[in-house]
Amino acid sequence: MEYQVIIPAAGSGKRMGAGRNKLFIEVAGRPVILHTLDVFASDLYCKKIILAIQPNDESQFRNILAGHPGNGKIAYVYGGDERQHSVYNGLKAAGGQIILVHDGARPFIRQHTISRLVQAAHDNGAAIAAVPVKDTIKRADRNQVVETVDRSGLWQIQTPQAFRLPILMSAHEQAKEQGYVGTDEASLVEKAGQPVMIIESDYDNIKLTTPEDLYFAEAILAKRRN
Ligand code: C5P
Repeated sequence: MEYQVIIPAAGSGKRMGAGRNKLFIEVAGRPVILHTLDVFASDLYCKKIILAIQPNDESQFRNILAGHPGNGKIAYVYGGDERQHSVYNGLKAAGGQIILVHDGARPFIRQHTISRLVQAAHDNGAAIAAVPVKDTIKRADRNQVVETVDRSGLWQIQTPQAFRLPILMSAHEQAKEQGYVGTDEASLVEKAGQPVMIIESDYDNIKLTTPEDLYFAEAILAKRRN
């Protein structure tokens, strides 16, 4: 089933501390953004890649992506102050029935997870990639434990997140009216009262956020090359 994907890539990468957009950092000799785009470039069902970027990064993105097989499918939009605003700008350039949102900083998503998300969004309206929480989770008041949370039924949420386009568009418009800013798209859709399905993903679908994630990224790619 055909889909389009919005890739928010307009962050400042403050937590990575690289002093530049973390999507330009090289992992296994290639910028992170190229690894993220590989799977969408080779997926014939992916009809358009909408990349939300900061204007200051535009020439660098265009240079890096010039020789990439996905380049012909890419449309650039400018991002906003929050990730949610970047995605909303991308939505305005989107069409078709099914839209995916996938973080530029999450380079290891697998094709089979994408296919399952697209199908589940078609069938149910909204579907998100996630893995079961592995660690013990506690709620604390500063550094004093208040309670241990029952982790059964708790999921760590990733991207891609997949939606029927009108559902995501109206959830974004409602959030905008209410001044609500969420950390993912599904939270907006939940607020709009729509069901969201979970598709179990892989633990190696990590987001590169802080410097040590780059070591994990090198290890994941080395393993995949074997
Ligand atoms: O900062 P974090 O890693 O959570 O950001 C997730 C993704 O959202 C990154 O790919 C980043 O470039 C993007 N982003 C964005 N616009 C912002 C902030 C983050 O497109 N204002």
